[in-house]
This record gives sequence, structure tokens and C-alpha cells, in this order.
Amino acid sequence: MENAMMHRVLYTALLLCVSTETSQGQSVNQSSVLIVKEEGNTTIPCSYKDATVQFILWYIQNHNQAPQILYYEHMDATSVPASFRNRISAKHDKDKKTFDLQITRVLLSDSSMFLCALNPTV
Ligand SMILES: *[C@@H]1O[C@H](CO)[C@@H](O)[C@H](O)[C@H]1NC(C)=O
Ligand SMILES: *[C@@H]1O[C@H](CO)[C@@H](O)[C@H](O)[C@H]1NC(C)=O
Repeated sequence: MENAMMHRVLYTALLLCVSTETSQGQSVNQSSVLIVKEEGNTTIPCSYKDATVQFILWYIQNHNQAPQILYYEHMDATSVPASFRNRISAKHDKDKKTFDLQITRVLLSDSSMFLCALNPTV
């Protein structure tokens, strides 16, 4: 019996902050914490109300740092931050007005604040 290994299940918390801002300067903030099993997959939702959104993107903001671009549609794979490369994707659904971020094989080090924004802000 070589596989009498104890399985330790780790969880990571992704602090989610969805902030959508319209051209009129109205904004909606929702924040919550997602607890995800390590190595599991997760989806961080983003939805907006503005009818005219053409460009939407995800930022990641680590403690005490400026937000960093994480993902936008058709982003060059090499521009995706290395720690998330090949693990994230999102599809802009203009009918549902969503841009949900999918993360596969979640790592403890993924814990961060994820922000969804309608226009480049940094
Ligand atoms: C939304 O969050 C931003 C950044 O944390 C904050 O500056 C702003 O006041 C918040 N807006 C509302 C309506 O809570
Ligand atoms: C996570 O997603 C990957 C890629 O889509 C898939 O191969 C894998 O089976 C999924 N894992 C779980 C636990 O659903």
C-alpha cells in the first residue's frame, strides 16, 4: 500500500470587488469573498448595466499595490501576468452584459482583490 497518503485540503480566499462605472460617473460596488478549494476552478462574476460598453477588463490588486491589468478579451497570452498565464479566461457576453472571469487550478497565491472595470483606469 503505497498510497496511504493523507490528503490535505487547502482553501484560498479570493477577495472580489466588482466595481462598474458608467460614463455618467455612476458606480456600483459589490464585494464579497469567494472561498475556493485549492486546485479547483472558480468563476468570478462581473456584470454591468451600461448599454454601450465596448471594452471591459479585469484588474488584480495586491495588498498595498496599484491595480495591475489581469485580463481582457483577445489579450496576448504573453501579456497575462505570469502567475495566471494559461489559467484564466473571460468572455464578454454583450447580451447578458457579463464578463465573468474563470480561473482554473486555483492556488493559495491567487488570493487577491479582483476588480472588473469598464475602461482602463490605470
Ligand atoms: C466604490 O469603491 C470605491 C473604491 O473602493 C470607492 O472609492 C467608492 O466610494 C465606492 N462607491 C460606492 C458607491 O460605495
Ligand atoms: C477545471 O478546469 C479544467 C480545464 O477546463 C478541467 O480540465 C478540470 O477538470 C476542471 N477541474 C474541476 C475540479 O472541475
